[in-house]
Amino acid sequence: MRVLYATSECYPLVKTGGLADVSAALPPALNAAGADVRLLLPGYPAVLNGLSNLHEVGDLITDLPGCDRARLLLGRTADGVLAYALDAPSLYNRPGNPYLGPDGRDWPDNAQRFAALAWAAAGFAAHTSYDPWWRPDVLHGHDWQTGLIPAYLTLRPDRFGGPSRPGTILTIHNIAYQGNVGPWMLGELGLPASCFRMDGVEYYGNIGFLKAGCYYADRLTTVSPTYAHEIQTPEHGTGLQGLLAGRAADLSGILNGVDYDIWDPARDPHIAARYTPDDLGGKDACKADLQSAFGLDRRPDAPLAAVVSRLTWHKGLDLVLDAASHWVGWGGQLVVLGSGDPASEAGFRQLAQQHPQSVGVRIGYDEPLSHRIQAGCDLFLVPSRSEPCGLTQMYALKYGSLPLVRRTGGLADSIIDANPAAIADGSATGFQFVAPTAQELLWSLRRAIALYRKPDRWQAMQRHAMTRDLGWRGPAEEYMELYRGLVP
Ligand code: ADP
Ligand code: GLC
Repeated sequence: MRVLYATSECYPLVKTGGLADVSAALPPALNAAGADVRLLLPGYPAVLNGLSNLHEVGDLITDLPGCDRARLLLGRTADGVLAYALDAPSLYNRPGNPYLGPDGRDWPDNAQRFAALAWAAAGFAAHTSYDPWWRPDVLHGHDWQTGLIPAYLTLRPDRFGGPSRPGTILTIHNIAYQGNVGPWMLGELGLPASCFRMDGVEYYGNIGFLKAGCYYADRLTTVSPTYAHEIQTPEHGTGLQGLLAGRAADLSGILNGVDYDIWDPARDPHIAARYTPDDLGGKDACKADLQSAFGLDRRPDAPLAAVVSRLTWHKGLDLVLDAASHWVGWGGQLVVLGSGDPASEAGFRQLAQQHPQSVGVRIGYDEPLSHRIQAGCDLFLVPSRSEPCGLTQMYALKYGSLPLVRRTGGLADSIIDANPAAIADGSATGFQFVAPTAQELLWSLRRAIALYRKPDRWQAMQRHAMTRDLGWRGPAEEYMELYRGLVP
């Protein structure tokens, strides 16, 4: 089973969020399950510098202005996965964030940049593909950046007709990011005018990359079962709900996994002390380390809540801002690591100034610090308004930091609320709240404090959380099943 896994991010080469973690962990898990997966990545400087044994395998000629010629290179990731890099310096030779320029705004040519990525992926299906010995059975794209892959295969048989058509899958990691551009770009994107209609790439008067993928891909997946239902509703579907509901038979939700080689307090090199479910002692040292890193009072008995997140509206962190003073009033502490909306960043900075002994805030992106926070906190907060899967709450489970989450998407699927029945039967792993209000968040924080004050119960819950297996083996099997269904 040969699978080309096309993605715009892959940890540790380039990461803005969970997509990078998934792209790093799922391909090796699929290979372990018997597949032959190769990555396709844009040739950002970090990718060209980070892959080993990089060598040229082919030339790419496109109809896309600005990318008439590019090279396809093949190398290996640190995990040993073969990875193609699309070396098109005019499009990708830009350091830093893969989508944003130095002014913090989208690069104006993002449509061309990711159309080229899709074009390169579709090229693997063509008669004159780069490597006649490695022709993928499945092209698996991720998010809007790869949405045009199945569109090119369908709409441009002149370019991408081949001995057999590979199956196509699009995984939606977040429906809120869509890649929409004006209809005047059709020609520039190498798309025929005839596809600009509702049964095609048209999305509310624009060309929609994600819409195109949702329309033309053979199968659609998203990253949790609950989100797969949610995106078929007006509340979460962002206008694509009708199309997705119509394709419900082709749409499935597969919960992401956790890479325990990276996220495991028993062997995490970034944390102050190692610990396991059977010996939680090291977690106290991690808490003390975290309190001193953020200049908080060294109070072992203060419930310490934490956030590691992009600061965007859908993450719901305004609720934490609104609830924080009450939490501090109850003796709680709070640590926040994140970056994003300037107003949210300013709000958290101000909160830390108001409560220097109890609230610590770091604005920025810091991978090692995110591990120290996972290990050092008691409660991990993910109050998202919507969350396709969410990985941090699953990392928190492994670190015995009980997640407190809003009941949506993958948060609903991965955390079992500590209601009386779940406490009694020992299945609880965290706390959920439903309405996206500070009031409800506070109510669940109160429940968490009450349990925290009963150390036996709290520790039993920690141990249960830490021993849940949310690794990639199960999800990889589910993807394999889908792939098999696509190959005649
Ligand atoms: P999303 O992809 O929507 O941002 P996820 O929970 O799936 O949400 O993944 C977020 C990933 O990014 C996790 O690996 C998390 O630890 C990491 N992350 C988010 N913000 C930061 C930050 N400021 N510093 C370090 N890591 C961060
Ligand atoms: C997206 C989603 C997040 C998910 C991640 C990986 O960034 O926002 O919920 O965990 O993709 O699938």
